[in-house]
Amino acid sequence: MSESTPRAPYTTNNAGIPVESDEHSLTVGPDGPILLQDHYLIEKMAQFNRERVPERVVHAKGSGAYGFFEVTNDVSQFTRADLFQPGRRTEMLARFSTVAGEQGSPDTWRDPRGFALKFYTEQGNYDLVGNNTPIFFVRDTIKFQDFIRSQKRHPATGLRSNDMQWDFWTLSPESAHQVTWLMGDRGIPRTYRHMNGYGSHTYMWVNGAGERFWVKYHFKTDQGIGFLTQAEADELAGEDADRHRRDLYESIASGDAPSWTLKVQIMPFEDAADYRFNPFDLTKVWPHGDHPLIDVGRMVLDRNPEDYFVHIEQAAFEPSNMVPGIGPSPDKMLLGRLFSYPDTHRYRIGPNYAQLPPNRPHAAVGSYAKDGPMRYEPAKTSRPYAPNSYGGPAADVGRFGDPAGWATAGEMVREATVKHREDDDFGQAGTMVREVLDDAARERLASNISGHLLDGVTRPVLERALQYWRQVDKDLGDTVAAKVDGG
Ligand code: NDP
Ligand code: HEM
Repeated sequence: MSESTPRAPYTTNNAGIPVESDEHSLTVGPDGPILLQDHYLIEKMAQFNRERVPERVVHAKGSGAYGFFEVTNDVSQFTRADLFQPGRRTEMLARFSTVAGEQGSPDTWRDPRGFALKFYTEQGNYDLVGNNTPIFFVRDTIKFQDFIRSQKRHPATGLRSNDMQWDFWTLSPESAHQVTWLMGDRGIPRTYRHMNGYGSHTYMWVNGAGERFWVKYHFKTDQGIGFLTQAEADELAGEDADRHRRDLYESIASGDAPSWTLKVQIMPFEDAADYRFNPFDLTKVWPHGDHPLIDVGRMVLDRNPEDYFVHIEQAAFEPSNMVPGIGPSPDKMLLGRLFSYPDTHRYRIGPNYAQLPPNRPHAAVGSYAKDGPMRYEPAKTSRPYAPNSYGGPAADVGRFGDPAGWATAGEMVREATVKHREDDDFGQAGTMVREVLDDAARERLASNISGHLLDGVTRPVLERALQYWRQVDKDLGDTVAAKVDGG
């Protein structure tokens, strides 16, 4: 995997020079001043001072493992992507995470979980950077930063604030579906192994004939869905803040490799315009009855990283890594994300992050990129420009070019997503409450909501929250109100 230098049986400095002591600094006499020529001591202090890269601005606390993805069903009529062709087995990396907490935060806080995948395909890296939920809190990239700040710490107190969270959510009613999901059982998975993953966005697939389809990804856990109650999660947060990280590592180390079955929903390209919901709105699912799940394959995580920092902290997932046969959709969240991730990696890790072990493609690289801090690999081209007459690579559009996207025209506007027949902010959330949850799950949902609201939410925000829940479902709203007033 990594091309490491051999390990010496004795201590050396970073240049491989044997050092004289692991115990004592070089001093003038046993109690004398420390000497500047103890360059090993200085190297140790300087290296230590630089051991951290900034933590991810979101999804800072995570865990990951390597594994493989194997195709079990022929979906080549929908995509020509190499990794989804019959018989293919592709090496991959997965990283799971919480969203709002910092590096040391408890794994069992209520939060969506990241479900980031990197497939080392023969056509380059394919990154599918999803969550354990099929939907999201907002539907326009321009609101993401505000949303995240409302979930993080209060500027004055440095504390997380339920008041900020409900303030934002109730002023952003498109959040209702995701908040319903979050306050329900799946808001705290039992372990990373006991949750599903979703691509969440709609993506485009293109087959060998150049035909386009819209697709949604569902990774169903083979371990079965499991969740923690709020009380169990609170207790575990104190007992073992790294519970989920430990569980993933130990399961794999003991040979119990977790796996997920990938299924997709496919929508014919032309059907998007008339579909009852806007199919590119990230606050909506496509009901299974409209677009049944189709089997694709199986992902297995069977290898722990040899070094957490190198392989997981420095892992750089980017939704813009899409291979031939896969493309974006008009989802305004997805389009924003295509910019955001490579940008943050250049800041967080450095401009040559793509050369690091977890990010290095297994496919051949013919890029004209060169130089920059921490450049490790020599340039891939003898002349640093294209076109050149010295054998430099040239783009092979005939071989790899997909249709670039979809037809679009119109005035430039700042407007909400176009509404389809059944679009509204509360409908699908209400369907979940009434038709998916049973009585016991509904009761836990109401308790989780009221418990959260009773923890520091101020009166005007609280009133709005009760109104919000009555719009999701009248009975649920009334139950929450009764609990809050009695609480
Ligand atoms: P279905 O009855 O076919 O699907 C309902 C789905 O809800 C299940 O398949 C399961 O998703 C998911 N689910 C079960 N329990 C919970 C829970 N406690 N929290 C969150 N999700 C849960 O109905 P539809 O497809 O018509 O969808 C009805 C509603 O179900 C939607 O409005 C949406 O809120 C929710 N839902 C739908 C999904 C979809 O992609 N269609 C996915 C997830 C939720 P899974 O099988 O993925 O585990
Ligand atoms: C991480 C931005 C929406 C899933 C991140 C990071 C940024 C970011 C800057 C940190 C990356 C890093 O430092 O490595 C955004 C923006 C969004 C958005 C601007 C909306 C416009 C979403 C959505 C999902 C998602 C909708 C899921 C469907 C993830 C995951 C990670 C992440 C899983 C962690 C990746 C890892 O494990 O390294 N996001 N995000 N994000 N985001 Fe988003």
